[in-house]
Amino acid sequence: MTPKPTQLVQIFLWIVCLYISQLKADTYLNKNRCISKTRCDECIQTPSCAWCYEPAETFGDHPRCYQPAGGKQLHKQCAPEYEYFPNNFFNVTIKKRLTSEGLAVGGGGGGFAGGAAGAAWGAGGAAASGSASASGGSFSQSSSAEMVQITPQRVHLKLRARESYSFHVQYAQAEDYPVDLYYLMDLSKSMEDDKDKLSVLGNKLAETMQAMTKDFKLGFGSFVDKVVMPYVSTVPSKLRRPCTNCTAPYGYKNHLTLNNDTTKFSEMVRSAKVSGNLDAPEGGFDAIMQAVVCTQQIGWRDKARKLLVFSTDDGFHYAGDGKLGGIIRPNDGRCHLQDNYYSYSSIQDYPSISQLNLKIKQQAINVIFAVTEKQIGVYNKLKEHIEGASSGMLSDDSSNVVELVRKQYEAISSTVEMRDNATGGVVIKYYSKCLNTGAELENNTNMCENFKVGERIDFRLEVFLKECPEKGKSLNQTIQVYPVGLSESVFIDLEMLCSCPCEKPGDVGYEEHSPRCSGFGTYKCGICECDKLHTGRKCECLQGAAANKNATGCRPPGSTDTAECSGKGTCICDRCECDQRENANETISGFWCECDNYSCYRHGGEICGGHGTCECGKCQCLPNWSGDACECYTETDTCYPPHKKDKKICDGHGQCKCGVCQCDTNEQGKYTGRYCERCPNCTETCDELKPCVLCQMYHVGPYNDNTCVEKCGNFTPEEVEVIRADEQNDEFPCAGSENHCRYVFVYKKLNETHYAVKAPKELECPPKVFILGLVLGVIAAVVLMGLAILLLWKLLTTIHDRREFAKFEKERMMAKWDTGENPIYKQATSTFKNPTYAGKG
Ligand SMILES: *[C@@H]1O[C@H](CO)[C@@H](O)[C@H](O)[C@H]1NC(C)=O
Ligand SMILES: *[C@@H]1O[C@H](CO)[C@@H](O)[C@H](O)[C@H]1NC(C)=O
Ligand SMILES: *[C@@H]1O[C@H](CO)[C@@H](O)[C@H](O)[C@H]1NC(C)=O
Ligand SMILES: *[C@@H]1O[C@H](CO)[C@@H](O)[C@H](O)[C@H]1NC(C)=O
Ligand SMILES: *[C@@H]1O[C@H](CO)[C@@H](O)[C@H](O)[C@H]1NC(C)=O
Ligand SMILES: *[C@@H]1O[C@H](CO)[C@@H](O)[C@H](O)[C@H]1NC(C)=O
Ligand SMILES: *[C@@H]1O[C@H](CO)[C@@H](O)[C@H](O)[C@H]1NC(C)=O
Ligand SMILES: *[C@@H]1O[C@H](CO)[C@@H](O)[C@H](O)[C@H]1NC(C)=O
Ligand SMILES: *[C@@H]1O[C@H](CO)[C@@H](O)[C@H](O)[C@H]1NC(C)=O
Ligand SMILES: *[C@@H]1O[C@H](CO)[C@@H](O)[C@H](O)[C@H]1NC(C)=O
Ligand SMILES: *[C@@H]1O[C@H](CO)[C@@H](O)[C@H](O)[C@H]1NC(C)=O
Ligand SMILES: *[C@@H]1O[C@H](CO)[C@@H](O)[C@H](O)[C@H]1NC(C)=O
Repeated sequence: MTPKPTQLVQIFLWIVCLYISQLKADTYLNKNRCISKTRCDECIQTPSCAWCYEPAETFGDHPRCYQPAGGKQLHKQCAPEYEYFPNNFFNVTIKKRLTSEGLAVGGGGGGFAGGAAGAAWGAGGAAASGSASASGGSFSQSSSAEMVQITPQRVHLKLRARESYSFHVQYAQAEDYPVDLYYLMDLSKSMEDDKDKLSVLGNKLAETMQAMTKDFKLGFGSFVDKVVMPYVSTVPSKLRRPCTNCTAPYGYKNHLTLNNDTTKFSEMVRSAKVSGNLDAPEGGFDAIMQAVVCTQQIGWRDKARKLLVFSTDDGFHYAGDGKLGGIIRPNDGRCHLQDNYYSYSSIQDYPSISQLNLKIKQQAINVIFAVTEKQIGVYNKLKEHIEGASSGMLSDDSSNVVELVRKQYEAISSTVEMRDNATGGVVIKYYSKCLNTGAELENNTNMCENFKVGERIDFRLEVFLKECPEKGKSLNQTIQVYPVGLSESVFIDLEMLCSCPCEKPGDVGYEEHSPRCSGFGTYKCGICECDKLHTGRKCECLQGAAANKNATGCRPPGSTDTAECSGKGTCICDRCECDQRENANETISGFWCECDNYSCYRHGGEICGGHGTCECGKCQCLPNWSGDACECYTETDTCYPPHKKDKKICDGHGQCKCGVCQCDTNEQGKYTGRYCERCPNCTETCDELKPCVLCQMYHVGPYNDNTCVEKCGNFTPEEVEVIRADEQNDEFPCAGSENHCRYVFVYKKLNETHYAVKAPKELECPPKVFILGLVLGVIAAVVLMGLAILLLWKLLTTIHDRREFAKFEKERMMAKWDTGENPIYKQATSTFKNPTYAGKG
């Protein structure tokens, strides 16, 4: 079957509806996500939801968590003063200009930062303050204020859960940024030649570095190992002089505090004496730890690129190795320098790698491992575990040390890698185009390489609050974002919007022992938080042991029904309160509202057929009535024909069921009539009435009009639209055919002579087929179609001919014929032959 146009339209509309509902589904889900939240903090932790803490007196039972944008129809409008809908907020609190962008640094900002730096130094102690003021003087000519390589310095951010906020951070390497280089050298015997070389190369190293930055400081330290067996021989003579021309062994010694006088460096290196030890690994970790944490003694400047060159030709001892020498106290990561010697060398163990990493990270120091070929593999692995560390291969006599340091410094200073200390649910992602500023998309990277002094790198930071901290943990967090190996950073003062003010004492929406909560709870953000003994919307119910022992809950015992109170009531304090029906005739009853008196079977449009009462869903029938809907009359007095003298139930042709005769069937058919009084083959009355009905209604049949008037006086048929025999009313149907037409009528016997007859207005005749018209129509259609085809053919050939003719005309016009001459014409030629001539000379 081909679909009708209306069906197609329906399908189309249906598809459109589906599509629209898909579109709406999203906003609908959002709305729902809010509505399901019943506490203010839960609501606020759901994106795009707002909370209304209007008192229940005016707000009622409406959902308090809603979506302010869009969901207006769904929730009752909240009075604006009671709406809590916090938004993400961002403000830059400190922003100093990048030094590379010009020296016009804001006076206030510079002053503040200088103060902070001064305070940091002040805490360092007397020895340090001297060096600080000295270093301050040393670069006072180049820039009066401190250098700024990253901006902004501090931002304030308020963020809602499961939302993120992006902002930009710029980094640019400043020209002549201070550099501190501390050279930490293994001075075991095997390094003697290296030491000699370094003392020669000291000035060259300084020069090379000074070419890169004007503000450069150099320091020197050395280490051997713990002066304990088995690291060092404790034979007294060996202790004094482990080898020829050797000095006594020591853990770590700071020879030269960071200094701008580079001649001193060479001097100190030359004067330092090598020493000897027993085992191959050295105590380098002890030395690194001290060099890193003793900021004052070493003279590290706060705002400087700090390089620590660690030069050795052997491995290292690490945490746990101290046990070999009986040292079990773990390394405390503090500074223990006395007279430039490490005083705790034989008291505490070596530090672990992660301990070192932590301290190096805190001090923002770049460690450069300058090691010989034999050891480079080990140190390449070590640098992976230390932030900002790098490694380079040292030749056997350290002759390439200058080149190595230069290369590593260049690599370090032309790279920026952003890190942060965000914890818990806060995640920071970094995006940058690095130098590729023309690129359309930024990469998800925290690292940019190969840029030069003054080139600005832009990072986009995306702060995402994955989840709120656990209850009780602080919602404020300061996050430090810093370039690895630099002590400058961006501080993010993050305020997580995870709770509502009205949940805390002091707010208008907060009241303890509130009368709104029957005095048994705390009123918070418009809802009651009840004490342990009470439940309910207003804490009006006792609960648990204190509650009514009889309470069986709002479900029948053992019931698996999920709805409380059978779905027809509300559970209040463990008791069902049944709903009221609009119709006063309908009531719900029962302990669990399980009964009602309106959902019984109906008969004839009435509950219990009007012959009973509805009790708990079941009909209770009146006497003499039975059946689910009390529809069945149990007595037989209605089954006796009223007029007959010999009274038999259903005239002897049927049974009495529910007070109604069910007639029997025999070979001829079924008995009919209210009392089964009409036999199946009783057609005599139909045959008797038929001619009269036909002539009176339709003027057909055996009687003409005159005989009709004469013979059919005892009834006049009634005209009806729909014919139906109501047997209960003693009406009987008659049907037959007359002249190919079907007639049908019903009659009812009134008395011995009179009848009431009903018949439809028209006879049912088969529709007449106009055969001649049909044949003519077909012929006409065939002829017309032929004509159409002929016309079409004629049209096509005409067009074709015209085209051909036009082409011919065109060609004719193009041809350049001499019109005076006929092209086919050829001039006549005459040939003469002399018959006598035979070619003889
Ligand atoms: C942003 O921070 C600045 C500096 O702390 C402050 O003056 C300003 O009022 C803040 N702006 C907002 C909107 O809080
Ligand atoms: C080294 O620093 C001192 C002050 O601490 C300064 O007077 C001197 O000029 C500096 N020397 C060099 C070579 O920069
Ligand atoms: C020890 O040092 C002295 C002077 O510094 C030197 O002359 C001597 O050759 C050295 N001995 C060895 C074995 O290196
Ligand atoms: C992003 O990374 C790809 C591959 O690592 C690189 O080809 C592309 O240049 C980078 N884009 C930018 C803007 O840095
Ligand atoms: C968090 O910081 C904001 C302003 O920065 C302050 O008002 C609030 O009291 C702080 N909260 C806590 C728990 O410290
Ligand atoms: C990150 O580091 C800064 C400064 O060191 C500190 O104040 C802050 O508490 C740290 N933040 C976290 C989350 O550890
Ligand atoms: C418990 O139920 C019994 C009978 O149903 C009743 O007599 C008694 O008062 C009820 N107790 C309470 C505390 O309601
Ligand atoms: C249902 O019960 C109520 C109160 O008992 C009564 O007024 C009403 O007539 C009853 N309705 C039916 C249909 O029985
Ligand atoms: C309630 O029942 C009475 C008598 O049964 C009837 O007259 C009345 O119309 C009914 N009311 C409704 C609202 O059905
Ligand atoms: C039930 O039928 C019997 C017999 O027909 C009759 O006596 C009795 O009155 C009837 N009861 C009612 C309530 O109609
Ligand atoms: C009806 O059928 C019965 C049995 O076949 C026959 O005896 C009786 O005469 C028939 N009655 C009429 C009116 O045809
Ligand atoms: C039959 O009923 C009609 C009218 O209903 C009446 O005129 C006629 O006299 C009655 N005939 C007999 C025999 O009762």
